[in-house]
Amino acid sequence: MDTQSFAITIMAAGQGTRLKSKRPKVLHEIGGRALLLHVIDAAQKVVPADRIYCIIGHEADRVRAAVESTGVQFVLQPEQRGTGHALQMLKAFFALSGAPIPENLLVLSGDVPLIRPETIASICETHLHEQAAMTILTAVPPNPTGYGRVLRRTPGQPEVTAIVEQKSLTPDQHSTPEINSGIYCFRTSALFEKLDLLDTNNAHGEFYLTDVAAMLVADQQRVVAVQAESIDEVLGANTIAEMMHLDAAMRLATARRLMAAGVTIFRPDTQVIDAEVEVGPDTVIEPFVQLLGSTRIGSDCRIRSFTVIQDTRIGDNVTVLNACNFDRSEIADGAILGPYARLRPESRIGENAHIGNFVETKKVTIGKGSKANHLTYLGDTIVGEKTNIGAGTITCNYDGVLKHQTTIGDNVFVGSDSTLVAPITIESNSYIAAGSSITDDVPSGALALGRARQVTKPGWVTAKNESRKARQ
Ligand code: UD1
Ligand code: CA
Repeated sequence: MDTQSFAITIMAAGQGTRLKSKRPKVLHEIGGRALLLHVIDAAQKVVPADRIYCIIGHEADRVRAAVESTGVQFVLQPEQRGTGHALQMLKAFFALSGAPIPENLLVLSGDVPLIRPETIASICETHLHEQAAMTILTAVPPNPTGYGRVLRRTPGQPEVTAIVEQKSLTPDQHSTPEINSGIYCFRTSALFEKLDLLDTNNAHGEFYLTDVAAMLVADQQRVVAVQAESIDEVLGANTIAEMMHLDAAMRLATARRLMAAGVTIFRPDTQVIDAEVEVGPDTVIEPFVQLLGSTRIGSDCRIRSFTVIQDTRIGDNVTVLNACNFDRSEIADGAILGPYARLRPESRIGENAHIGNFVETKKVTIGKGSKANHLTYLGDTIVGEKTNIGAGTITCNYDGVLKHQTTIGDNVFVGSDSTLVAPITIESNSYIAAGSSITDDVPSGALALGRARQVTKPGWVTAKNESRKARQ
């Protein structure tokens, strides 16, 4: 499909009053990404970013900042006086900026996020093929309440006579099943001619873009409807409940994509998997797992229940036991983690390493085959290969003002309940006695003890009891 003659505009200026939220509607997220980013993504697969005009208004700076990196153009609608008014602002923008007016204009809504690029391209194609002034993407959802309805001249024929908003429906129009998706294609000249003739004589006192349909028809111009293949992709997100419905649909689609690629996902309805997550074949994901952001998991892994993984790379054959929490970290092949392990940002866990229960790490590199199996905090630390960090080991990396580095070599044995006061270096093949407070560097091959010597007083308890009895 040649979309040379098309530009795309995305209406994203509205506040979203029905959400009752401080956040602008188009920045609410489904599948872990802002609604508007989903729409821009689809648009960019049809035309280049410099031909995408995003109409922003409510919290414009915040919306712009959130999507600026996509390279789209912005048009300001300082007051939000309706969808017709939004396009009046676009028309004024073309007049003022001298940007070339495209022959055809595809209009998307920032709050209809599941639209697919294939569908956008197919409306453009129908629009050209039908030689229409306006082509409307429609659907017949199970419950049309709340949407504008599309009235066809003759059932089964493409010609439309009008779009009627929910609040303006006459009693006999309430049963009209076909809804307006808020996605249209216009011959730009036909649209721009009618925009200035819109008025606000309606239930919301707004300029309705939808009124353009009847105006064009009154002018003997051709307005046609084309039905979307799937209902989900034209569903709007006006309330949190609607958004969560789309979120579930989107995440289920992501789970299906992964399952089709060989991933076993138990109870996909319980998973929270963001759209861009990748997982290799033969990996098993148990119920109630969250895989978020840019997370990548290799093949033959097992992720047990109640684990939350954000922006983390995991190699092959990794076992993540239940209830782990990983953030912006890297885990190499064959590692075993959890249950209840917490990797804070910049934790790099080496091949076949073990990070066990109630172990917290931050900015660490753990070498191949090393183990920290129980109740440990490692921060700003480098651990070599095949080193064993005993239960309850704590790196004291913070002096109240600055963070300090701990370096531990290969084949080191750190006894349980040791505190390593950074900055400190513990060289390879050394041994730290259990319960030590280590404040000085430990050379290779040495044993370091840093604890008070034990005192044992034989018969002390009996003597104490007897002296108490004597006093009574
Ligand atoms: C609109 C349609 C309705 C359709 C529905 C589909 C109109 C009058 N009605 O209703 O027929 O069934 O979409 O989802 O168009 N916006 C602006 N500036 C404004 C007002 C809105 O940019 O002044 C943006 C909003 O941010 C939103 C989109 O336009 O992304 C649609 O606005 P919304 O208020 O949600 O319209 P609906 O009531 O859903
Ligand atoms: Ca809407």
